[in-house]
Amino acid sequence: MAHIIVVGNEKGGSGKSTTCMHVATALARMGKRVGALDLDLRQRSFGRYLENRRAYLAQAGLDLPTPDYHDLPDTDPAAAQDDRLARAVEAMDATKDFIVIDCPGSHTRLSQLAHTMADTLITPLNDSFVDFDLLARVDPATGRVKGPSIYAEMVWGARQVRAQEGLKPIDWIVVRNRLGAQQMHNKKKVGAALEDLSRRIGFRVLPGFSERVIFRELFPRGLTLLDLKDTGVDQLNLSNVAARQELRDLMGGLKLPSLTVGF
Ligand SMILES: Nc1ncnc2c1ncn2[C@@H]1O[C@H](COP(=O)(O)OP(=O)(O)O)[C@@H](O)[C@H]1O
Ligand SMILES: [Mg+2]
Repeated sequence: MAHIIVVGNEKGGSGKSTTCMHVATALARMGKRVGALDLDLRQRSFGRYLENRRAYLAQAGLDLPTPDYHDLPDTDPAAAQDDRLARAVEAMDATKDFIVIDCPGSHTRLSQLAHTMADTLITPLNDSFVDFDLLARVDPATGRVKGPSIYAEMVWGARQVRAQEGLKPIDWIVVRNRLGAQQMHNKKKVGAALEDLSRRIGFRVLPGFSERVIFRELFPRGLTLLDLKDTGVDQLNLSNVAARQELRDLMGGLKLPSLTVGF
């Protein structure tokens, strides 16, 4: 059975689609069979990213490992949407090692359902208390966490469903994304609040990607940091080398089954 990785956060712009693309492509480049689904049916950034990749590779005559993207199957509009995701996952389950699922930045039924299917849940989070607010409420005077909030409660619900069904617990990883070189004070405060919260509601914290312009430039060609060398870029600049290392560290930190990080 495929290991399901869901990337979710009910907040737009936290880096879900970018993380999805990099994680899925990194796995494909490690020789894994990777299926990809995009539940952001409106924006479809992950789906578009992978379409761009296919088009660019074909046009450039390159053959690089690429996740296998599928649209959700059509369904009778009157019928419940639930079975679309189940059918999509079922269709790939036996032939893929990993299925990577991108979620929209808002609460939807499909996204909620995907969370109950997650073996690994990755939540990219901007270093901002505006984004943190979806995970937990913070006491403004002390900075202490007062209790979980909407997104954390949704994940809690998904964990309950899995427990009832006898499935293994979700390994939930909050990834601090788009870290800036400045704003040390804010970075420390968000970091401390995350530490506090991680113990209380059960997630691991990993560093993700620093804020780097390269992430915005790769989308039209459907490339990731790992592909640059194969597309004729001889010398990666320092920022790109550092970003690639951040991705390697993330892949290692995810502790996915049967994976030795070497790419
Ligand atoms: N580490 C990063 N550095 C710079 N820009 C980033 C980074 N991560 C994401 N972005 C950019 O931020 C925007 C939102 O990212 P995206 O992955 O689409 O987020 P989400 O899917 O959570 O809405 C995009 O323009 C993307 O290129
Ligand atoms: Mg997105």
